[in-house]
Amino acid sequence: MVSNEELHVIGQSILHGEVYVSGAKNAALPILCASLLTPETIVLKNVPELNDVKTVIELLKQFGVKVSKNPKEIIIQSNDINNTEASYDLVKTMRASILVLGPLITRFGEAKVSLPGGCSIGQRPIDQHIKCLKAMGAEIQIEHGFVIAKSKRLKGTYIKPDMITVTGTENLMMAATLAKGQTILDNAACEPEIVDLANFLIKMGAKINGHGTNRIKIDGVDYLGGADYKISPDRIEAGTFMCALAATSGSITLLDVNPLEMTATLKKLHEAGLQIEIGNNWLKCNMYKRPNPVNINTSEYPGLATDMQAQFMAVNTIANGTSFIKENIFENRYMHVPELKRLGANIIIDGNNSIIKGVNYLSGTIVKATDLRASASLVIAALAAKGETRIESIYHLDRGYEKMEKKLSMLGANIKRISKRIAE
Ligand code: EPZ
Repeated sequence: MVSNEELHVIGQSILHGEVYVSGAKNAALPILCASLLTPETIVLKNVPELNDVKTVIELLKQFGVKVSKNPKEIIIQSNDINNTEASYDLVKTMRASILVLGPLITRFGEAKVSLPGGCSIGQRPIDQHIKCLKAMGAEIQIEHGFVIAKSKRLKGTYIKPDMITVTGTENLMMAATLAKGQTILDNAACEPEIVDLANFLIKMGAKINGHGTNRIKIDGVDYLGGADYKISPDRIEAGTFMCALAATSGSITLLDVNPLEMTATLKKLHEAGLQIEIGNNWLKCNMYKRPNPVNINTSEYPGLATDMQAQFMAVNTIANGTSFIKENIFENRYMHVPELKRLGANIIIDGNNSIIKGVNYLSGTIVKATDLRASASLVIAALAAKGETRIESIYHLDRGYEKMEKKLSMLGANIKRISKRIAE
């Protein structure tokens, strides 16, 4: 028997209370991969309990990395690496597995990583990762669905990806830490997760400047040591909970957040009608009206994150007017739209544009999650809808949100995880 879990939501609860935001998934994944860069011990705190984190730990163990856990920490030792091949069965479940490529090639001079394959939100090629690693001296072939890389010591040089790529910037920054000489990484992504990774690498002994800007300078060193590090808060999880409040009503306080990293999201939530009190590591939010429609134009940081697009769309479905969303990063990030329309939303898609005409209410029904942020969008819509909504395939949600239904229940939402036994 296979169990397929669902979330059952009875909508229109008022939300109230406090919620702790977990460590950032998109910082934890590259930082876990960066632990390959040293034989010494790495101790990580505030690592979120997510399926993607479990996947990257399984991947590290494939190389011979020793990983142990206690309730507060993950302890990692890469002092006995006996394999540098990342298998398809793990890489296919998580594209971020490509983040082992930079560390493996720069420390061990070889790597064989399965091509990640497509995913529901777009092609998501890795041509820029490869182009720039080749510029640093790596010999890279693509054979039988694998990236096969070999290199004597990488050479620091000027590299500039054709477009801003988050994991591309992370892979190249990690590769440059042990290269010979200086690397200038131009057109670099500026996301806070890049800064978190850079701060971790610097604690290991890397020489990095300019992280958080579009030009990062890395002076290669011969060796990186161990480090203790606490993962920064997840700005996307925080924004997701605030969108849930915007689509329902009540008063919630988010704890362990960094408001300075959320400027674009906070501006849009304020526009939607959320009253927000900003602390140094907390946000107190009130919502007692139907949301205003907000127009969204996704862009690289510090613009409005593409990872927040689906959540804002859910809020817009019941707003008191029409809104326009333009998805500029991925070519197919509207998989949540057909499911939102099943709940009664009025959305028209035209290429990467969408027009959302706010309806007075959504009506609960059965919907299916298709990708991580689409799942979050469906949870938000279900919390706003009249009646019961059942969300299938919620393994997508579990990739990037830690105990979401538990956190929402603590805030007063009527949401339960149900295991549906299905015949094989
Ligand atoms: C990271 O993906 C995040 N994942 C994504 O979060 C996020 O949506 C994305 O950045 C954009 O912010 C992680 O950090 C693990 P990109 P990534 O390379 O690095 C094109 C989530 O929901 N491109 O910045 O894969 C690419 O197709 C996930 O948590 C190339 O063409 O995204 C896309 O259109 C989803 N060639 C654009 O650049 C390349 O070599 C930006 O992609 C690399 C990228």
